[in-house]
Amino acid sequence: HIAGPCGLVIFGVTGDLARKKLMPAVYDLANRGLLPPGFALVGFARRDWADEDFGKIVHDAVREHARTPFREHVWEQLATGIRFVQGSFDDESAFTELKETLATLDRERGTRGNHAFYLSIPPAQFPTVCQQLSRSGLAKSVDGQWRRVVIEKPFGHDLDSARELNAVVNKVFPEDTVFRIDHYLGKETVQNILALRFANQLFDPIWNSHYVDHVQITMAEDIGLGGRAGYYDGIGAARDVIQNHLLQLLAFTAMEEPVSFEPSELQAEKIKVLSATRLAEPLDETTARGQYAGGWQGGLEVVGLHEEEGFAQDSTTETYAAITLEVDTRRWAGVPFYLRTGKRLGRRVTEIAVVFKRAPHLPFDATMTEELGQNALVIRVQPDEGVTMRFGSKVPGSSMEVRDVNMDFSYGQAFTVSSPEAYERLILDVLLGEPSLFPVNAEVELSWKILDPVLEHWASQGKPEPYEAGTWGPPSAQEMMRRTGREWRRP
Ligand code: BG6
Repeated sequence: HIAGPCGLVIFGVTGDLARKKLMPAVYDLANRGLLPPGFALVGFARRDWADEDFGKIVHDAVREHARTPFREHVWEQLATGIRFVQGSFDDESAFTELKETLATLDRERGTRGNHAFYLSIPPAQFPTVCQQLSRSGLAKSVDGQWRRVVIEKPFGHDLDSARELNAVVNKVFPEDTVFRIDHYLGKETVQNILALRFANQLFDPIWNSHYVDHVQITMAEDIGLGGRAGYYDGIGAARDVIQNHLLQLLAFTAMEEPVSFEPSELQAEKIKVLSATRLAEPLDETTARGQYAGGWQGGLEVVGLHEEEGFAQDSTTETYAAITLEVDTRRWAGVPFYLRTGKRLGRRVTEIAVVFKRAPHLPFDATMTEELGQNALVIRVQPDEGVTMRFGSKVPGSSMEVRDVNMDFSYGQAFTVSSPEAYERLILDVLLGEPSLFPVNAEVELSWKILDPVLEHWASQGKPEPYEAGTWGPPSAQEMMRRTGREWRRP
């Protein structure tokens, strides 16, 4: 699918996301032939730049971060449609200028009045920008042309603020024109959860509480928070990624089969399962949080959160969070879903592990099965994308000894084409007006509803427990699992 004629306006072009992800993704789309000749990219920011200066910024971002090879003629074609509008968000005249710039592009470049506005800016500025887009008439579509708005998380910091934010956005942009980015949904491996579950006969019969003991969803990162205090301090791990990425992974893993892959059908199933999801209690025992201290990682000595620039000594922001969820449906009643995430952990890995119950009976001498664990199906979201099945197998030799082995599917080996970057897929979907991979308002609010009680609980608990950088999180997270007779996986 190739996008039709349109202009993409990015607010917040001086930010990290625009430079590392958005601009390179636009180029990659152009390089794959997925953008039409009538495409324009417009940057909006306070900097005193001319079109050429912004063009140079995009060029450098592309050279540094694009996935696909640099091809001069692709760049040239894209570059002729790059414009920059200077102004602050409360400056009415800047929005008038934006309107004129877009009108000129419509005529001369052939973008035909179709415009997407990407708000890669702090949510506190959403109201101002939405109002300006409304006042200047930019938000309103006229016969046959489309207008869409793309918003980046955090969509609020709790249920109430999310509702307020949604109200502000929806006042200007009707819900079917709002595209909320959760870039995890743009990842191939996340979409593959649906293929794995609903294209096969193999897994569904055992995908329930009769066979599944528990599910572990892990998003571990090795990076720290150097340079990100402005965004992260006061937000923390649960708001940053559990509220969105990890709960979406849970929804894909636990939802029922959608009637079809029509966006509304997919959303209906996600909404259903999120409505049935709640925190297990008591929260003291079923959750854990931590803050990284200095340590060693990959042979390098790294500092603790409190030594990172911008974080106060008494910051209570958690950099590690683990929670236990219950999904109150016929399929999942009694199966805990453990979600954890953290910065400065042992390594970067995101995976979903469905861990099965032990066989009800083992007709082997007990000494022969000492190294037999529980069967597991592990969906490796990243890196090393793929799926692993773990089961018991006979150890070669004269005795009937059984031990765990892995059966592996790896994307890299099975497919020769490389996956597009998540942002590439999602930006294309915005331009195509394809909303399947974007959480709707209801999902965002349900996710906050699930998380709010633990956020409140933690807010009354003072400082999170420290953990050494390069380890797998605070001792309380290990205890949280041990209490249930289980262990976290070592990915
Ligand atoms: C972002 C979070 O949404 O996801 C970051 O704000 C995190 O804190 C990032 O580092 C991780 O994304 P990925 O695609 O590298 O797993």
